[in-house]
Amino acid sequence: MIDLETVRAETPGCEKIIHFNNAGCALSPNLVTDSVISHLQLEQRIGGYEAASQAEKQVANFYTQLAQMLNCESSEIAFMESATRAWQSALLSLDLKAGDEIITAGNEYVGNYLSLLSLTRHRSIELRTLALEADGRIKAEKLEKQLSKKTRAILVTHIASQRGDIQDIKAIGEIAQAEGICLLVDACQSVGQLPLDLQEIKCDFLCATGRKYLRGPRGTGFLFARGQSTASFIPRVLDLQSASWDTAESFTVKKSASRFESFERNLAGQIGLGLAVEYANSLGIIHIAARIQSLAERLVAGLQSIQGVRIHELSEPRSGIVTFSKTGAKAAALQSHLYQRGINTSISKRKNAMLDLDREMRDDVIRASLHYYNSGSEIERFMQVIDRF
Ligand SMILES: Cc1ncc(COP(=O)(O)O)c(C=O)c1O
Repeated sequence: MIDLETVRAETPGCEKIIHFNNAGCALSPNLVTDSVISHLQLEQRIGGYEAASQAEKQVANFYTQLAQMLNCESSEIAFMESATRAWQSALLSLDLKAGDEIITAGNEYVGNYLSLLSLTRHRSIELRTLALEADGRIKAEKLEKQLSKKTRAILVTHIASQRGDIQDIKAIGEIAQAEGICLLVDACQSVGQLPLDLQEIKCDFLCATGRKYLRGPRGTGFLFARGQSTASFIPRVLDLQSASWDTAESFTVKKSASRFESFERNLAGQIGLGLAVEYANSLGIIHIAARIQSLAERLVAGLQSIQGVRIHELSEPRSGIVTFSKTGAKAAALQSHLYQRGINTSISKRKNAMLDLDREMRDDVIRASLHYYNSGSEIERFMQVIDRF
């Protein structure tokens, strides 16, 4: 069980604001922010490289905590500056050629989709985008039917940015493994909010960012690269972290996931993210998931009782991301009204998610995204404001 009073006391932002924008960037607990500041101060005092030597244990903690959370090896985790960079590095390591096919779905993250459009233009890669079902989910059997001998990769976003439906990545992983096709999962919105067991989820790569449900610092993320199945995938660009220079003309690429890392990095951020993951591990991801889900159910039930409000997630179980519209209210006006009353939310913009939102809304929608440190009274207050708008 999560002790709400304690976790809120350890999250100073909770005192002043109602933060329902956790899918954008969650509030970090004190120990995360303190660790970042203290490493930056150490760098200032003794020098950046010298501080790095002193922080070896804290840096190692990042890998061990994530490996524990995801049930994988520490050597399968690479520190990355963002989920987008992690996703791009993984995909480009496949060295796609003209005529290769890749498959994604209508909930794909805008940044990823832009990279895919660019690949189709510059490398003549065939892109197939599976339409979402009426309930916002990807039907694994339909995805399977799209595969061909030319399919090199399946790209799936576990929970989209614009809508909270949870995709069945286990079923998709089974298909990918059976067909011997690389599966890259964007778990940006699910790591830190749902239990993910990489021995059960048969993906080859999985990426996420630090600042969302993990509650880590900005400018951090990671890539999971499965030891065996991705061994032949070499990043397109290398540096002294990812490879060693053996002779004037030869080099050896590292075998572990660190082949995807860069030497230069935000070390304070990496230490902070390690502690954020440790904090989540100590609370228990099962308890985190259960609390987020029950808060989301409470929010949805409340919103559904307000006249003119329509919820856009139609699938079960719920995640912490709840999107909705209110008749006659523009999403931007509603968001700004909430913000002026100390409530942070965000907007899922149609322009950034047209394949998904154009299925019904064809407009921007409000996104409220909850974390375990949110409270029932915050939900009540939120509903009051929406009701009166
Ligand atoms: C589903 C999803 N994927 C990827 C990203 C991009 O993450 P980053 O900004 O760390 O690159 C986001 C960010 O909103 C996201 O929601």
